[in-house]
Amino acid sequence: MANKVLVLLCVLVTTLLSCCDVSVVRGQTFACDVGKSPAVAGYGFCDKSLGVEARVKDLVGRLTLQEKIGNLVNSAGDVSRLGIPRYEWWSEALHGVSNVGLGTRFSNVVPGATSFPMPILTAASFNTSLFEVIGRVVSTEAGAMYNVGLAGLTYWSPNINIFRDPRWGRGLETPGEDPVLTSKYAAGYVKGLQQTDGGDPNKLKVAACCKHYTAYDVDKWKGIQRYTFNAVLTKQDLEDTFQPPFKSCVIDGNVASVMCSYNKVNGKPTCADPDLLKGVVRGEWKLNGLHQPPLAAKPTPNPTQPQAPRQTPTPTQPQALRQTPTPTTQAVTVFTLKLKR
Ligand SMILES: *[C@@H]1O[C@H](CO)[C@@H](O)[C@H](O)[C@H]1NC(C)=O
Repeated sequence: MANKVLVLLCVLVTTLLSCCDVSVVRGQTFACDVGKSPAVAGYGFCDKSLGVEARVKDLVGRLTLQEKIGNLVNSAGDVSRLGIPRYEWWSEALHGVSNVGLGTRFSNVVPGATSFPMPILTAASFNTSLFEVIGRVVSTEAGAMYNVGLAGLTYWSPNINIFRDPRWGRGLETPGEDPVLTSKYAAGYVKGLQQTDGGDPNKLKVAACCKHYTAYDVDKWKGIQRYTFNAVLTKQDLEDTFQPPFKSCVIDGNVASVMCSYNKVNGKPTCADPDLLKGVVRGEWKLNGLHQPPLAAKPTPNPTQPQAPRQTPTPTQPQALRQTPTPTTQAVTVFTLKLKR
């Protein structure tokens, strides 16, 4: 547990520290804003002359257990005594910065962002350099919105599930049904989002997320729910159809995070399958970032308790499938992480 908390914070701090120099923005709260609160200059994690690992170690060493736990959800709490503002991990940018996630909103300062054609249409251009160029524009706008406190730095995009079943309803979010084209789209769009203009491999412009790993293209149809759907696949279909986009996203795109899917694959929930997660994504493909389960509503017996813990798991019911969706409450638990590159 402590270990996981530590690595989560590493990723968060790395992302926040490596992105942008935002201390000049007025009216917004950013960590390590020495101009606003000179006291933070004394913290090692604010010392830019130290390496990222040293800064992360310093920060984690200062946090209480309670504060670490407060960072294990998508709406991460603040640590005001250290000058660290709250952080919302959920922002979306499938084809332009979107205000669907809690981390992004529009205002009179930024009334909207560029909305590019939906991914299935962009992919139909078969123009791989276009995928990257669009990603670059999106992350430039995302960074500008972050600077004025309207967006996050972590984007749960792209959606690179293979679109096999039109009953899904989310096909337009994806590059389509072709594993080769979808793989190229994944790598290109992720590079566009993440790479800084200077091309420094140790910095992220924003963090992208390839979702939903894996074999997810059924949501809700005639009593079938994504939370309990079991995708039955041959090994060959898994390897040749559903896995290539994720492989390309991690290896070619060097993505900062991967989100597991709601469904099961051959009886095992993907979010709780050590073979798919530790074995393939981290082991074979060497994901050097974080892994997160999909946004899923949780049961809230008491509506005044917005961050109530999830139900206690029962041995026969795998964790990822326990949530009962409700329209108003959502939570994410980040459960396995690793220090970023
Ligand atoms: C492909 O996209 C690029 C932008 O990245 C554009 O300059 C080029 O004209 C496009 N190619 C074709 C064949 O449309």
